[in-house]
Amino acid sequence: MAKENGVKTPEVFRTKLMPRQIPTVAYTVQNILISIASIISSIASFLFTLWIILPLSMIRAVIPANMLQSINSEGKNKVVLIVGASRGIGFSVLKQYADDPDTVIIAASRSIESLRKAVIELGDTLAIIQCAELDLTAQKKQIAENVRAIDKSYGPITHLYEVSGISNHLKEGTPWGLNVTDEMINVNISGTVASILTTYELMKERGYGKICIVGSVAGLYGPANMISYASTKAFINTFSASLRILAAPCGVEVVTVQPGFIDTRMTKKMRGQDSTVPNKEFASPHGMAAYMKQAVEQGGVGVVSWPVRQSVMMHALQSVNPICEELGQWISMKMMLSGKKIT
Ligand SMILES: NC(=O)c1ccc[n+]([C@@H]2O[C@H](COP(=O)([O-])OP(=O)(O)OC[C@H]3O[C@@H](n4cnc5c(N)ncnc54)[C@H](OP(=O)(O)O)[C@@H]3O)[C@@H](O)[C@H]2O)c1
Repeated sequence: MAKENGVKTPEVFRTKLMPRQIPTVAYTVQNILISIASIISSIASFLFTLWIILPLSMIRAVIPANMLQSINSEGKNKVVLIVGASRGIGFSVLKQYADDPDTVIIAASRSIESLRKAVIELGDTLAIIQCAELDLTAQKKQIAENVRAIDKSYGPITHLYEVSGISNHLKEGTPWGLNVTDEMINVNISGTVASILTTYELMKERGYGKICIVGSVAGLYGPANMISYASTKAFINTFSASLRILAAPCGVEVVTVQPGFIDTRMTKKMRGQDSTVPNKEFASPHGMAAYMKQAVEQGGVGVVSWPVRQSVMMHALQSVNPICEELGQWISMKMMLSGKKIT
């Protein structure tokens, strides 16, 4: 830590622009070419969506609902496993299904106490709710065994909502480094992938299932001090989008969720650490969960990115060239969008 005007400044905010960091001519020209190619591909995707996909989506709007049912879904009771159901977005997903008839909800997360507290808060529900402890930091073999045991006891699982995730904002005073990054990789990637792939294998054998995986807009673009969190979420965004294509022929539908700023424990902690994002930007987790359920149940949506304005902005930022991307990551860090901490 250095002291500027008597105020402690974290290491990460003390960079100085040096002549060495000015891009070379060859690198700048390459970046200009990247921008030109981005404009062309962006126009092509715009025209394709406007002329081909928009008319198709209008035809879909008049197709009778029973023709839009997923293959092999007839007569199946819902068994919905929600990993990360104890609070935040996961708890809101639980509430979305709580009053569905003929439905079993398996609420899972690290701590059985916080799960039970959340379920008691719900009161009486039409759906049957079961609580299961599932710690994503456990050995992958153990996670797989736990998921299979849950499926055997309460299943067959028809829906998986994989919501759990952590950031370094949750704990006060933990400096970013190998340990913090390792824990985030364990929960946000390794544990998450272990439970998704175990459930996917079970669903594949049965030829039916719906999987909804929570990544983040932070995995598209973000401040440099979101380094480890954003990297884990970029992995999940890509993994989930690719699994959607691989799983479709097996009757398993995968939906990726990329939340923007949602008002939960995670972002409350981020705001407590001096994030400069205005309070009004934080949307309700219930709104997020409602869009997630709608996409999972009605199909035809690959990526649920919400709130829409934030999603549109973050997707647009993906088309900037590497020089501007680096500059943007630095500026947004300096603006303390995700607070003063490195996560
Ligand atoms: N909030 C946002 O603005 C935002 C934006 C983009 C993406 N996301 C993503 O949305 C997801 C949910 O976040 P949230 O905002 O709802 O956070 P949250 O309120 O902090 O909830 C996190 C959930 O993850 C569970 N969890 C944490 N560590 C776990 C572990 N080792 N094993 C199993 N479960 C564990 C927690 O369970 P316990 O209560 O048992 O610890 C809790 O249910 C995360 O993947 C997050 O990255 C959130």
